[in-house]
Amino acid sequence: MFSVLVAYATKYGSTREVADTEAARLRERGIETDVRAAGAIDSLDGYDAVVFGGALYFFRLIREGRRFLSRHRKALSKMPVAVFGMGPIEDTEEQYVGARTHLDKSLDKNKGISPVAVAVFGGAFDPTRLRFPDANAGTRNMPPVDLRDWKAIEAWADSLPEALGLVDD
Ligand SMILES: Cc1cc2nc3c(=O)[nH]c(=O)nc-3n(C[C@H](O)[C@H](O)[C@H](O)COP(=O)(O)O)c2cc1C
Repeated sequence: MFSVLVAYATKYGSTREVADTEAARLRERGIETDVRAAGAIDSLDGYDAVVFGGALYFFRLIREGRRFLSRHRKALSKMPVAVFGMGPIEDTEEQYVGARTHLDKSLDKNKGISPVAVAVFGGAFDPTRLRFPDANAGTRNMPPVDLRDWKAIEAWADSLPEALGLVDD
């Protein structure tokens, strides 16, 4: 049986919920799937593939995500990897293109990692839950937003077994 790790880097939990959904879909396909916080992962031994998801903050991948990629760069270079970034809280083309550019920059810093699939999903946040330094003049008066497109998230998950080479011939 194939074994996959879904590693997530989150601040407020919306990325973890997406990771959970990706994992549930993989399990439905009969793939053994662990979901774990990226910062708590010491080794990728025993996994056939990794799905990594990280939130974007201030135009780059969240620090826990950047650390995960650099810490496990060697192992990730030798195995199939799929990556998703969580970001845009405004539903415009410009925001999605920007988020993808910022995600790619973090990936490019880790030579050897070449994901078989990369996606950006709309983000979610509740201004009343933000802590320093996220709670600022810019975010305080914004309405809560949730741009997570669960159909797209599930469709991407459904494409992963083939993309990651996790299907028996
Ligand atoms: C202070 C702040 C800064 C953010 N900066 C970005 C950004 O630069 N690019 C982006 O695409 N999304 C940005 N976002 C949106 C978050 O990535 C989005 O809310 C995401 O779903 C948060 O994930 P989490 O709940 O897992 O922490 C920002 C959100 C906040 C609150």
